[in-house]
Amino acid sequence: MAIEPERPAGPIKILVVDDAADAREVLQTHLEDAGYAVRTCAGVEEALQALERAVFDVIITDLRMPKANGLELIQHVRANLQDVEIMMVTGYPSIEGAVEAVKTGAEHYLAKPFTEQELLQAVAAIVDKLSRKRLAHGSAKAGGTHGIVGASSAMQHVFKSIDKAGGNTATVLIAGESGTGKELVARAIHYAGPRRNAPFVSVNCTAIPENLIESELFGHVKGAFTGAGSTRAGFFEIAEGGTLFLDEIGDASLAMQGKLLRAIQEKTIYKVGSSRAIQVDTRLIVATNKNLPQLIGQGLFREDLYYRINVIDIPLPPLRERGDDLLLLVNRFHARFAKDLNRPVPFFSDEALRQLMAYHWPGNVRELENLMQKLVLMCEGARIESVDLPPQMRAARPVARRLDRSLAEHEAEYIREVLDSVRGNKTKAAAILKIDRKTLREKINARR
Ligand SMILES: Nc1ncnc2c1ncn2[C@@H]1O[C@H](COP(=O)(O)OP(=O)(O)OP(=O)(O)O)[C@@H](O)[C@H]1O
Ligand SMILES: [Mg+2]
Repeated sequence: MAIEPERPAGPIKILVVDDAADAREVLQTHLEDAGYAVRTCAGVEEALQALERAVFDVIITDLRMPKANGLELIQHVRANLQDVEIMMVTGYPSIEGAVEAVKTGAEHYLAKPFTEQELLQAVAAIVDKLSRKRLAHGSAKAGGTHGIVGASSAMQHVFKSIDKAGGNTATVLIAGESGTGKELVARAIHYAGPRRNAPFVSVNCTAIPENLIESELFGHVKGAFTGAGSTRAGFFEIAEGGTLFLDEIGDASLAMQGKLLRAIQEKTIYKVGSSRAIQVDTRLIVATNKNLPQLIGQGLFREDLYYRINVIDIPLPPLRERGDDLLLLVNRFHARFAKDLNRPVPFFSDEALRQLMAYHWPGNVRELENLMQKLVLMCEGARIESVDLPPQMRAARPVARRLDRSLAEHEAEYIREVLDSVRGNKTKAAAILKIDRKTLREKINARR
């Protein structure tokens, strides 16, 4: 998954492009008075340079300018930047100009002359759209960073650790249940630090046969063993200057653990079949879904290696302990899959959402991600009801009968369930409940 650049917090940043100095000044004054941060450019070329150097939220551009015109700017922006809104302003209001601008990718159009109020209204509408779009993508505004969605305090802690780890080369241990985002965090650490331009190499310790592990990690020289036809670099060397991510370290054999310990302690490796020490500058990040202290107790994991890898320790909480992050993730995945699959974004009934929140998510974020993909495919933009969820989620309601609720609460819940079962169709629900639609409506409204 791509790592998104973090969007700096602060005021909305607007780039104003107009060849007329007085027009630039008017726009700048009005917008700055309204609290926006504004940068002005006199032409397309200057604007392209500004866009290379800084991140903007909104671009307001004139259509007709000498040299390159506004349409060229819009085309460039649409081809290269995603998270920015464009508004076209022109002193020659013509249908063709507007149509052309919208076709090219300017979603907003404002004809000159305009009043200050018209300008600010138009910009406010754009900003509103932008923040809803960003919320749906679970981007920085939704509390996430490094492409990792999360606003819960548990995840805030993780973000702080990522930033801390990004700034140095200490070994990191990421521990968490399967599907909690361990690899995502490892990548974020790599890309948060000065090693971002060097390789990130991900190796799963369980995926390599035991007899090949040593040569895969450290390389081998020609003739070291049958089949070693030529000298080869191992993962430590391939990741030189960058990061080596060793996944499922808890499954490494004791023999391999010993070799890893030596590589970490001495910052040197030996190719299989060679006694020459090779210095390597490879940052190590390891991950596990096992409880390493417990493995140490069972004699399956070396305690000395544990202390070596546990310099920075990032425990990843399971999804069920991240509270409302679930909703942010639902939005992020929905928006992404709807876009990828070119389908409308579906939404959830209250009951279906309640069940998602109550479910214990043994597969964590990956399980949620897979489910959202299925639902986007299946529901085609319609409302997702409880019946659309997998059976194990529908069973997630409290099993024990609660004996502390009023009749009205029971009635409200039952009405909700019936409505869900008929996809919100009030006529059908009223028929099942044997009440008329007016009574049903009153009962629904009474609970709002
Ligand atoms: N906080 C998050 N925000 C957005 N996407 C996430 C988040 N956490 C996990 N994901 C996504 O969930 C999926 C699983 O994440 P990842 O592979 O990093 O988990 P893992 O802990 O390494 O899993 P496993 O133990 O199965 O190897 C990936 O597609 C990842 O992009
Ligand atoms: Mg993984």
